[in-house]
This record gives sequence, C-alpha cells and structure tokens, in this order.
Amino acid sequence: MERAKIYKKTLLIESTDKNGIKDCAEHLKNGEVIGFPTETVYGLGCDARNGEAVKKVFEAKGRPADNPLICHIGDKSQIKDIVSEITPLAQKLIDSFMPGPITLVMKKSDSIADETTAGLDTVGVRMPSHPVANKFLKEAGIPVAAPSANLSGRPSPTSSRSVLEDMDGYIYAIIDGGDSEYGLESTVVDCTGTTPVILRPGAVTKADIDAVLNSDETVIAGGLADKETPRSPGMKYRHYAPYAQVEIMQMPEGVEIIGDNAIATDGKIGEYEPVDLKKLSDDEAKELVNIVSPFILRSREILSKNPFARIGIYCGGEIKAMYDKLNDKILSAHTEFCVYGKTVDVAGASHGLFEGLRFLDVQEVDVILAQGFYGEGLSVAYMNRLGKAAGKKEELTPGMPAPARPARMPLPIDAFKDTFTASVLFVDDNNISLSACCEALMRRKIEKNEPYISSDTKDAGFEIYCESAGLTAMSGLEPDPQMDKAVKELTGFGLGSIESRRADPAIYDENDLILTVRDEQAFQIVKAFPEIKEKVFSLSTFAAANGLVMKDSSGKVMSISVPDPSGENYETYLHTAKALGAWLDLLFPYILKDLGASRI
Ligand code: TXA
Ligand code: MG
Repeated sequence: MERAKIYKKTLLIESTDKNGIKDCAEHLKNGEVIGFPTETVYGLGCDARNGEAVKKVFEAKGRPADNPLICHIGDKSQIKDIVSEITPLAQKLIDSFMPGPITLVMKKSDSIADETTAGLDTVGVRMPSHPVANKFLKEAGIPVAAPSANLSGRPSPTSSRSVLEDMDGYIYAIIDGGDSEYGLESTVVDCTGTTPVILRPGAVTKADIDAVLNSDETVIAGGLADKETPRSPGMKYRHYAPYAQVEIMQMPEGVEIIGDNAIATDGKIGEYEPVDLKKLSDDEAKELVNIVSPFILRSREILSKNPFARIGIYCGGEIKAMYDKLNDKILSAHTEFCVYGKTVDVAGASHGLFEGLRFLDVQEVDVILAQGFYGEGLSVAYMNRLGKAAGKKEELTPGMPAPARPARMPLPIDAFKDTFTASVLFVDDNNISLSACCEALMRRKIEKNEPYISSDTKDAGFEIYCESAGLTAMSGLEPDPQMDKAVKELTGFGLGSIESRRADPAIYDENDLILTVRDEQAFQIVKAFPEIKEKVFSLSTFAAANGLVMKDSSGKVMSISVPDPSGENYETYLHTAKALGAWLDLLFPYILKDLGASRI
C-alpha cells in the first residue's frame, strides 16, 4: 500500500491544551486522523462511521485492510448506537471492566463503516480509562476507530515520541498523554456467545474475567481449552517486530528474588537502584544466578561466533547489577541494556517492553535477549507479545517490507533537564591530514546520529564533541588540500575550518577519549603521561579492547593499518579517507558507549 506524507509536520498537542484537543476533535469529525494516548498503547483515531477516514488510517499505518479496527468511545451510552445486540455476558463485562484495558467484540450496527470492521459483522468496542483519551473522545462524541499508532509490523507506541517517529507527516496531530500505563494492548474478548473467548490476552486476565462471572469458563483462543474458535484476525500478522532478532531468556520456574530494598519498581525504563548483592540471602543469590546465567552464557556464545555482534538486553535491574559486577570489558562493550525495573516485576516488564524494543533497535544491536516469564496473569499477555517479536522470521506477512531501522527524531537538546557533554580527540603527527580527516568524518557521524541521551540517566541529554591535534604539529596550518578534496568527495563537506595544532596536556585533559591513528602514537602519549592511560588508545587497540578482533586467513590478528598518503596521488588520499571512514563506522557505537552516550 502506498504511504504518502500529507502534512509537512504533524502537530504535537499537550494534554493540558484544551483548545488543541478541541481542534483535534473537530479535525477528527472532518475525516482527519489523530494520534491519542490510552492506558494500553497510543491509538490512531478516525471517525468509525466514515469509510474514507478509515482508509486514511490503513494508509498511514501501511496496514492490510482485512484487519479490523476497534471502536473507541468516551461514554457507555454510545455502545447502543454501534452494536446491534448487547448479550447478558457483554453487559456484565461492560459493567465490570469499562472503562479499562479491554475490548469487547459484539454484533455491529449499520452505523459503523464496513471499512472499520474489515467486512466482519462484529465490532470491537473499547472505552479507555486514560483521562486524556476520555477528554478527547467525549469532545468528539463519535465512535472513534483506532488501531495502535505504530507503523504496521513495528512495536506499538507507548509514548507520543514513538508515535511521532512512525507517523510524522502522515497524520494531522498527536495528543500527548505521557507514557502508557500498561504498555500492552487491551484484552480482546469475544462476547457474542454465552462463553467469553479471549482473542488477544492483555492486562485484564482470564482470572479477572472468571472472577466476575463466578466461573472458570473463559476460553483463551489458541489455548488448550480452545477447540475451534477463530482467532482475532490481527493475530495472523507479524507484529511487534524490532529490527534485531529477539531471543527469550526463560525465567527458572517459581523464581522470586526478594532482595533487601532491592529495586525501585515503578516500571520506568532505566530507573532502578542497583541491588545490593551482599544483602541477598544464599537462596536469593542462587536464584539470581539461575536467572542471569542464560543471559551471560548466550551473550558469550553469540560473541564467540561473531566478535562484531552487538547485544541488547531487556532485563531487570538485578541482572544488570550482576553484569556490572562481572566487569567483563568485552562483554560490556558489546552490550546495551534496557532495564524495566525489578527482575520479577512482570507489570514493569510489560509497561516497558515496546519502548524497550524500540530503544534497543536504535542502538543498532543485532540480537535482543529479553526476560521471559512463566505464569498465568499478565505473563500470558507479555509472553504473547514477546513471542511475536521473537518469532518474526516465521511470521512475515507476504508482501510486507522488512522493518526499517527507526528514523531519528530531531529532538531539541533543551527538552532535557540536564545535559552532559563528552569529547573525543584524534591524534596523529602533523594534524594536517589523517587526524583532521578523522575529526571531519566523526563530526558528520555525530551530527547524523543526534540526539543522544546519557546511558545512565535516561532523561539527561548528551552532547558529543570531537577535535584533533598532532604530536609534532606546527600550529595554524591549513589542512592538506588533497585530503580536503577527498573528504569533500566523501561527505560533501571538506576539512573546513580545521587548523593544525600541537597536542598538549591541556588538550588531553579536555577530552574523554583519545584515539591515535597509529599504535606508536598512543604508546608515546601514555609513556609521557601514564596517568591518562585509561583513555588513550590507537584505532587498533581501541578495536581490540572492545573485542573487535580481526584475523587474517592464517589466523593472525590483524591491526588497523592506515597508509600515509602524503606525497602520493589523489587516489591514495581518497582510499585512505575511505578506509578511515570505514573504521570510524565500525567503531562509532563503541565510541558512544565509551563516552557514556546512547542514541534516541
Ligand atoms: O489497547 C488497544 O486495544 C489499542 C488501543 C489504541 O486502544 N488498540 C489496538 O488496536 O491494539 P489494533 O488495531 O492494533 O488491534 C486490534 C486487534 C486486532 O488484533 C484485530 O484483529 C482485533 O483487535 N479485532 C478488532 N475487531 C475485531 C473483531 N470484530 N473481531 C475479532 N477481532 C477483532
Ligand atoms: Mg496493533
């Protein structure tokens, strides 16, 4: 399906902006598409009675049109207008769970467009409990058809930023409502018959439904008790797939770590206090080792097969604490963490899952190892989504493009409370050619990948600087014109205002990472200033320190060799600049990591 940008920019409306929300409701009634928050995930809303508006939603999502949309309402009195029959079972579930994270499938009325239900004679009805969704839906006063606001095949968005990432230019506006509380889509329950059938597990569980019905009859479609129920049409499509391959690390059965004041469990990504491992009892420590080992063993196995692999880990704070304690430099250079809270907190894991998969994707990891859970309640929904993310290879929908790496959003750096800075220095001898080339290429890479956040404090911005100097340089020389030309050919920008300068202790002091073009230059710096040896590497030793070991055909470890083009022809300069560019591409994620920065 053709996906065409129709707006220069999608508006972002604050939840407190009454006029903004009114304007969104007006545009919705006029057939436009609006992104809005709910307690499960963000939705992409349109007038459910208007087939043309519904088509716009399918287009913006790139979604196959045979997958029906859910109708959202702001008031229970609207239900009678959109369904033709409310069964006693449906009524009971409406009374018990609405508003809340549940969708009830009922027989549809004629007022709902066929495009909304993809031709089915039933319609899913949902009344969100999110106050901002409520305000918006009440203001609109019409049934609002809305799928999750992701590009089809991508993880559902649980923040307005993620919606913008997928939808900027494709929809009129997005209403911000903070992070979605549950983070997984609603429980879809077919209640057209006398027995409820859960078509999609969610935060309202089988146990919750059984409890209000005073029975244990609720069927989970596809589960053991399910004989022939057709599953929700959407369940056949590839969902929730990040770019990286996902693997589930199963929790040992019955595990529960109750560390002494272990972890803050507010479920927010990245906010946790490291567990004090000393305070764990022997049993707790043993359980923790059981949970962590699969992650560590699998990470090492992956790295032994591919020393360039980058591994994302979606886990609890105790597991990150164990990795930190292990202090394996190579393992940690190849690992990006996304911590959801306390390890056993399935609500925290659910809340952070989709955002976590998106975050790790942006770090360009190749594999994501994610915590699995046993159990009935919320674990069923969490494992359902994680299983889909992990099974993406088998579940590709024919004709659907493979997911692309997410686009970067130009967020202003002043969006953050704090901003940290770090700087990398490139050093060679004369600073008119190779190190100047490194500086220029690195600057382009830094700009292209902006913005950054601190790896430790996710709400702090991060600015990265880059400079160069030469061990024997004369100060104030123009760059080598041949190198200038080569860099211009590669990037469209030459060496510009880079002037040569002599490296000195003050310059070393200002920089957090010092990379020399050749091994002997790093050696020389460390010899003169042993106190800074921790931050001085050559390109080769930096690669090796990060486990990026390349061997030649005879098994000998190769080091990075950069020819000296001075006095040679232009082709040699160009070749050299390309080689440096390729090395910087490879080393870039490790440089970011070394400086303490993450991409967003
Ligand atoms: O939490 C949610 O439900 C979110 C928020 C935005 O409300 N919405 C959402 O919509 O997840 P969507 O379109 O991404 O998923 C709707 C699911 C699909 O699997 C679809 O096949 C199923 O509900 N569904 C919708 N109408 C149905 C119907 N009449 N019969 C059976 N399944 C239906
Ligand atoms: Mg969806």
